Amino acid sequence: MMLLAPHDVPPATPPPLALRHCSSRQLYFAMLGERGSSAGRIDELTASASRAFLADKLRDAAAIDAGFPTEARSLNSVLHADHDQTAQAYRRYLDERQAGAPRRYFSCRAHAMYFLRAVAPTKLVDGAWLFGLLPRWQDPRLAPLIRIYLEELGCGAAAQNHVLLYKQLLARYGCDQWQDGPDQHFTQGAVQLALAHNASEFLPELIGFNLGYEQLPLHLPITAYELNELDIDPYYFSLHLTIDNASTGHARMALQSVLDCMPRIGDAAEFHRRVGIGYQLNGVGMGTHQAIASFDLEQELQRVIVDKAAVGAQLHSDYCRVGGRPLSDWLSSPDEIAGLLTALQSAGWIRRGQSPEQSRFWCLLTDEQAPMFGVFDGYEQQLLSDWIQAGAPSPPAALPTNRFRRRPAGGQAYAPATVLQGGATVEQIVAHHAGAKPKSGGCAELDALFEQLAEVDTKAQAFAVLEGRLSPANHPTPAGLAATRLYADLFSR
Ligand SMILES: [Fe+2]
Repeated sequence: MMLLAPHDVPPATPPPLALRHCSSRQLYFAMLGERGSSAGRIDELTASASRAFLADKLRDAAAIDAGFPTEARSLNSVLHADHDQTAQAYRRYLDERQAGAPRRYFSCRAHAMYFLRAVAPTKLVDGAWLFGLLPRWQDPRLAPLIRIYLEELGCGAAAQNHVLLYKQLLARYGCDQWQDGPDQHFTQGAVQLALAHNASEFLPELIGFNLGYEQLPLHLPITAYELNELDIDPYYFSLHLTIDNASTGHARMALQSVLDCMPRIGDAAEFHRRVGIGYQLNGVGMGTHQAIASFDLEQELQRVIVDKAAVGAQLHSDYCRVGGRPLSDWLSSPDEIAGLLTALQSAGWIRRGQSPEQSRFWCLLTDEQAPMFGVFDGYEQQLLSDWIQAGAPSPPAALPTNRFRRRPAGGQAYAPATVLQGGATVEQIVAHHAGAKPKSGGCAELDALFEQLAEVDTKAQAFAVLEGRLSPANHPTPAGLAATRLYADLFSR
């Protein structure tokens, strides 16, 4: 397979010093910083840094071999062959598992929860790159991609908004402390946000990125399978198995857009080359396999205790002693934490290889009246539980959580929440949505949105008001959801 040459990115005004060497993590939060700005735009400094970051990552992407065909006419057959290979590989995985093979990805439940946290920065901007296409809503070639974006946003239904679904998943299992993760956790999310904010300049790359993102990866069904096995709700992952499907789903729509946007007059080969680099951009930053492989139970537990020590080292009295030393002494340096865990075992506070309830230290954290109750979140408790049980004859047990409910099937079809009779005017549609907004609770953002909308009488004017509310930072809010419902309703007409 021939590698594609790097995109010749025109020189940009260098970003200011403060952002020139900023980390993926800093840039990620800076690009989400438009929250509160109803326009959904980022400031000039962040825009400049995001462009430089994207150009840099595109150069990395150009060196990745993702099997992208050099001929546009081969795209359909290559993608179908990839899909078939993935389906066959998943079949083999299922056969292996039925024959008694262990889980391929997650060694224990804490490992799966670690993964959920590691990929959170990416999942919490799901679909973000497509936001950059909203200003081009009148281009029919891009309409399928805007429909994909609206579906990512659940067309304004909170129960179908992918970002909100992932937030709920994290909260449910006590995994919502992901913001301080290492920089590599943020690279893919930052790439996706950078595409959103530089869409007009990098349109072929954006379309190619979308094509790659919507292909069925083998890790998706395996992740869903193993999460379910570990009693973690797999819905967010299984949902993407159905909506990204190659025959009618997002993968099909993504391919159609590539073919539709191919220039009839002009340099089609150059367009295809840039689409290929965008496709390969999916391989930049930490992938699923790297996220899974980066877990080490012992080291992760020590990291958590080091973090706790930074806050709580001086909050223990001198009466709290382990192995003859005050606990505050053990917690004074990260280098002491491995020794502390050994001392806790020697002193009988932790009994490894037994159920956690047999360990006094565990009870100190989890009994409601105990002095350390609430100090460890759901993920951290699972980590400790799995570490204590490691080596036990029976598989580590899941901590009690609310059993997940089965979601209603078929909720993903593109269908605006409210369908009015044909022939309704924009004012009537806006008035209908204004009437449907929640009355109680006094959401100032919602009120402000519909005040602005009261002035509009064309679709273009309505979209100009709504667009920013659909930004990656704004859409998972009450005003963002209401704006998405109205946008989806108008867009379908
Ligand atoms: Fe999604």
